[in-house]
Formats: sequence, structure tokens, C-alpha cells
Amino acid sequence: NNKDLIDRFGRRIEYLRLSVTDRCDLRCTYCMPEGFTDFEEPEHWLTFDEIERLVSIFAKLGLKRLRLTGGEPLLRRNLTELTSRLSSLPGIEDLSLSTNATQLNKHAVALKESGVTRLNISLDSLRPERVEQISGRPVLDKVIKGIMAGKDAGFSPIKINMVAMKGTNDDEIDDMVAFCIEHGFTLRMIEAMPMGDTGRNTQFLDLQPIKQRLQERFGLIDGVFPGGGPARYLKSPDGKFSIGFITPISQHFCETCNRVRLSVDGTLYMCLGQEEKFDFRTLLRGGASDQEITEAILTAINLKPEKHEFREQPQKLVRFMSMTGG
Ligand code: GTP
Ligand code: 5AD
Ligand code: SF4
Repeated sequence: NNKDLIDRFGRRIEYLRLSVTDRCDLRCTYCMPEGFTDFEEPEHWLTFDEIERLVSIFAKLGLKRLRLTGGEPLLRRNLTELTSRLSSLPGIEDLSLSTNATQLNKHAVALKESGVTRLNISLDSLRPERVEQISGRPVLDKVIKGIMAGKDAGFSPIKINMVAMKGTNDDEIDDMVAFCIEHGFTLRMIEAMPMGDTGRNTQFLDLQPIKQRLQERFGLIDGVFPGGGPARYLKSPDGKFSIGFITPISQHFCETCNRVRLSVDGTLYMCLGQEEKFDFRTLLRGGASDQEITEAILTAINLKPEKHEFREQPQKLVRFMSMTGG
């Protein structure tokens, strides 16, 4: 009964982003403050059993897609045990992972074998000193090794997420295009969203003119791309290269939103840019029946707001991106 997960604005919710840890080995300027240590207590982390139970109830209500996020999801111990369990749940058609790839080299093969179908990887620059400036750590070599391990393990498509920032990496867009064409990756350019005050605010870069310039320069045409996310794609006429634009600020996509987010402590956030949320940990640990959890999910879906207000109220959110995984 898919009908059940339709919100007040007629949007069908079929995609859950699941944050398996709020910790990360990097400190990207747009995501977390440099000295941040206020992480969730391990006792509050949903266990794999709790996650599996909640997701299986969601799946009975029509959830089809799952994406594991963080913080950095590969920091959660034994993650492939969880991905094996989730990928075999009835109804789940798509199990993907968003990662910074610093540890992907050692996990890529096991992730593939456990049923993860797709990888999205953060990479904002191809210059070592810039990667260090943006992410706070000198990790470019490790990240490239991780990306190539993902490719060798057979993940396809691999999407490269580039948060494009004015005056920081906007002179590297063509280099990133070339890199992705060379390796058969899908490039995605992302407008930074103001989440929490990281103390190092990022420079907004309007992607509309960039999209137009790339379209003309490479003769790109409209593309469709199975993914179910907010990116809008262009592709080369031979179909070999795709580039996606994620433009929450210059052109938001909330009318077609299909997702909600579960943080590591079992809080369901109804929108990336709003405060509405629902606590599932208390329910799961308080002996709630499947029926009670089903009703709670329906109640939560009804709380989903119409849209974010990153533009109108950029200082609104106090939580950092690392809590909800983007
Ligand atoms: P697929 O399309 O399934 O590949 O995933 P995705 O692009 O949604 O996931 P990913 O984790 O790679 O996120 C890419 C960027 O999109 C990140 O900056 C996210 O914060 C952003 N994003 C994803 N979903 C939403 C959303 O619902 N609203 C907003 N405003 N941004 C989103
Ligand atoms: N705005 C936009 N994208 C962000 N990400 C992290 N923080 C932000 C932000 N403030 C991106 C990361 C990662 C994806 C999951 O979310 O670059 O690729
Ligand atoms: Fe959906 Fe909120 Fe993202 Fe808009 S900002 S697309 S409503 S989660």
C-alpha cells in the first residue's frame, strides 16, 4: 500500500537517507566546525537490529530506496554486516552509499558483495593543497585511491560530488569535467547550503550560468538519470558523460521531494532545511509493536514541511550537515 507514504503536499516518500554515524575523519568547511567534538553517545546509536526493524516497516509502506550516509558511513564498525541485511529486505530496490572515500580502498569489494549498488563520492578539488584547505586534512591521495578501488570493484555509476564555491574551487570545474570523462564518472556540482554555523562560511556560487556555459562548451543535451535524487542532468550527445546540478539555492526542487532522513540516534528529520522531526529511538527501545511504529511513521510523514528556506533564512538551522548526512 504505497499510498500510505504520501505527505500533505502529495509527494510520495520512497527514499530514506540513513546516517549510520555522525563522526567523520574530515572537517569540510561547509559541513562541520574544525574543533567539533559534540558527537552522539554510542548508547544512543541505533543498533543494526533496530535499523533493520525500522527499515523493514518503512519498506512495507512503500519505501524503495536507501542511502547510507554519515558523517562518514565507513567509520561505523562492521558496516557491511548492516548493508548485507538491508540489501536483502523485501521491497528495497536500491541501496547506495555517500562517502568521502578516505577508507574506501579497504572496503570497496566487501561493500559490493554485500549488495550496495551505487556510490556517491565527495571530491571538491584535484589539487592536494586545496583538498587540505577545504577538508582540513591532506587526504587527496587516499581519496583517489579509494575512488579507483570503487571503480575496480565494479560500482557503476560512480557519482563525484563537487560542492562548488566561489573563490575556492570554481576555477577547477573544467578539470573536474575532464577527470570524470576520463574515468567514466558522473560529475555532480552542488550549491553549498547554509547548515549550522561552521565558522567558515562558504561562498555561494550560482550554478545556473555555469550549467549554461558547460552546456554550450561541450554541446550537452538534457539527460535523464535513474537516481531518484534532486540532481538535474545534462549529458554528452554520445551519452558517455553525464553531469548533474544540485541547486538548492538558485532553483530548489522541493516540489518533487521524495525523501526523509534518519540520524544515528534514531531521529527522523523530515526535511534537510527544517526542524520538523520525530524520535524513533524511544519507541524502538520502549517495546512498541510494529503497528505502533507504522502509525508513528505515518504521523511523521504528515509533519513534512513544504520546502526549505535556505535563501530566506540562511541562519535558521543550528544543526550541522554531519548530523543528517546531506
Ligand atoms: P542519488 O540521486 O540517489 O544518487 O543521491 P543524492 O544525490 O540525493 O545523494 P548525495 O548523498 O550524493 O547528495 C548530493 C547532494 O544533494 C548533497 O549536497 C545533499 O545534501 C543534497 N541533497 C540530497 N537530497 C536533498 C534534498 O532532499 N534536499 C536538499 N536541499 N538537498 C539534498
Ligand atoms: N551544502 C551542500 N552539500 C553539502 N555536503 C555536505 N555539506 C554540504 C553543504 N553544506 C555534501 C557533501 C557530500 C554530500 C553527501 O553532501 O559534499 O558529497
Ligand atoms: Fe525535500 Fe526539504 Fe530537501 Fe526540499 S529541502 S528537497 S523539501 S528535504
